[in-house]
Amino acid sequence: MGKKISMAVIRRLPKYHRYLKELLDKDRKRISSKELSSIIGFTASQIRQDLNNFGGFGQQGYGYNVEELYAEIGKILGLNMDYNTVIIGAGNLGQAIANYSGFEKSGFNIKGLFDINPRLIGLKIRDLEIRDIENLEKFVLENDIEIGVICTPKEKAQEIADVLIRSNIKGIWNFAPVDLTIEDEDIVIENVHLTESLFTLSYLLNEKNK
Ligand code: NAI
Repeated sequence: MGKKISMAVIRRLPKYHRYLKELLDKDRKRISSKELSSIIGFTASQIRQDLNNFGGFGQQGYGYNVEELYAEIGKILGLNMDYNTVIIGAGNLGQAIANYSGFEKSGFNIKGLFDINPRLIGLKIRDLEIRDIENLEKFVLENDIEIGVICTPKEKAQEIADVLIRSNIKGIWNFAPVDLTIEDEDIVIENVHLTESLFTLSYLLNEKNK
């Protein structure tokens, strides 16, 4: 690809992917940037600009081929690959993520679930046994695990991240409300701070009521 794509564009791609899937499910063959704009909420010129980053895809007077664009964006997002994944912290959130089958459909295969609580170790979530955190490093190394999902309390998140880094993890999906320090530039991290999103909602609600 060569050219560096801005994070703002990358953050919009999953939304394109989701809307295109809906169009595909409705058997739509093609769509103009104008119509895509009306359903997705970005301007038509924004859509053209975004997709031009990846070489276009659209054709003057035809618009976009829905199936092709969906497949291409999926490829750009790396969704044509499988990722071995582990979840650390099998509490409320860890179990909810483990129970959701949608991630597997997108290629994120949950291979292990880890916790420190002896009352949880040995229990099963779907057909995944909750394992002792002591075994995390060995498991990650031996099973080619690429992604670690951190669902522990925030006080433990950095130490878990350190173990994952030592085990050659490639990416961390962090739900703990803390910004992790990762020195290895080859490791990518995506923080999901649900509270930040909730507080944004709170702001918008209050703004409306002024
Ligand atoms: P929880 O208390 O239900 O689960 C945390 C789990 O981590 C427990 O099972 C605990 O035994 C385990 N744990 C603690 N230390 C550990 C260690 N060193 N190694 C392995 N496992 C360890 O908490 P919950 O609700 O699942 O939240 C998890 C994280 O996600 C927290 O940091 C929380 O702030 C964050 N979060 C949760 C949200 C939610 O909707 N539940 C929303 C936003 C953030």
